[in-house]
Amino acid sequence: MYIKSDREIELMRTAGKIVAEVLEKLKEVIQPGITTKEIDQLAEEYIRKNKAIPAFLGYGGYPASVCTSVNEEVVHGIPGSRVLEDGDIIGVDVGAFYEGYCGDAARTYEVGSCSDIAKRLIKVAEESFFAGLEYAYEGNRLYDISHAIQTHVESNGFSVVRSLVGHGIGKNMHEDPQVPNYGLPHRGPRLMAGLTLAIEPMINAGKHNVRTLSDGWTVVTSDGSLSAHYENTIVITVNGPEILTRL
Ligand code: MF3
Ligand code: CO
Repeated sequence: MYIKSDREIELMRTAGKIVAEVLEKLKEVIQPGITTKEIDQLAEEYIRKNKAIPAFLGYGGYPASVCTSVNEEVVHGIPGSRVLEDGDIIGVDVGAFYEGYCGDAARTYEVGSCSDIAKRLIKVAEESFFAGLEYAYEGNRLYDISHAIQTHVESNGFSVVRSLVGHGIGKNMHEDPQVPNYGLPHRGPRLMAGLTLAIEPMINAGKHNVRTLSDGWTVVTSDGSLSAHYENTIVITVNGPEILTRL
């Protein structure tokens, strides 16, 4: 578990701002008719224009700059020729390195007009992140965050994906510690100022079980139910959490 210096946190602020700007721009372009590949191209262009490098491209052989996960796809959907349709939901996950430091964040967007259940799932995913954030203070323990996320999701009748977790982040996209979205309070590593984490609830309308498609990347719900993802990179400061991937 690596504690960042003020200089490192400043670089992560810049990386995080670029990621946040990409996610903000995508709000306007995600409409019925756009392809997931077009979303990927827009994101990559913006990242590079800001002197940053797409963090996912080439990571473990991943073939694109962002992940686009539609409907029952949980995470790691590969952009391609798929055309978004009215009523779809799409999770877009964006990562960028700036001067050697990484920012990582995801949002789930409505495409046109969505069902009430889809809207509620997206909202609960976001809310659960903020429920967890309330525990991101020095002196607490990591699974206090995890437990708060789980409690919010399950009390709304949805389930938390178990086999994928959030992570420490910095010079590497994935660092210790792992950040599960479920767990027991008062357990796990002690939180300290300077710790940078990517907290990323992935929640399903049905059961928590997931599987990976034959492309080797796309994770889908086993029961075909809708899934939503919400992620930010944060730093724990002496005054509490600061979100690095929000404008
Ligand atoms: N935000 C995701 C994560 O934290 C993105 C990784 S996609 C990959 O794991 F292709 F880069 F693996
Ligand atoms: Co992440």
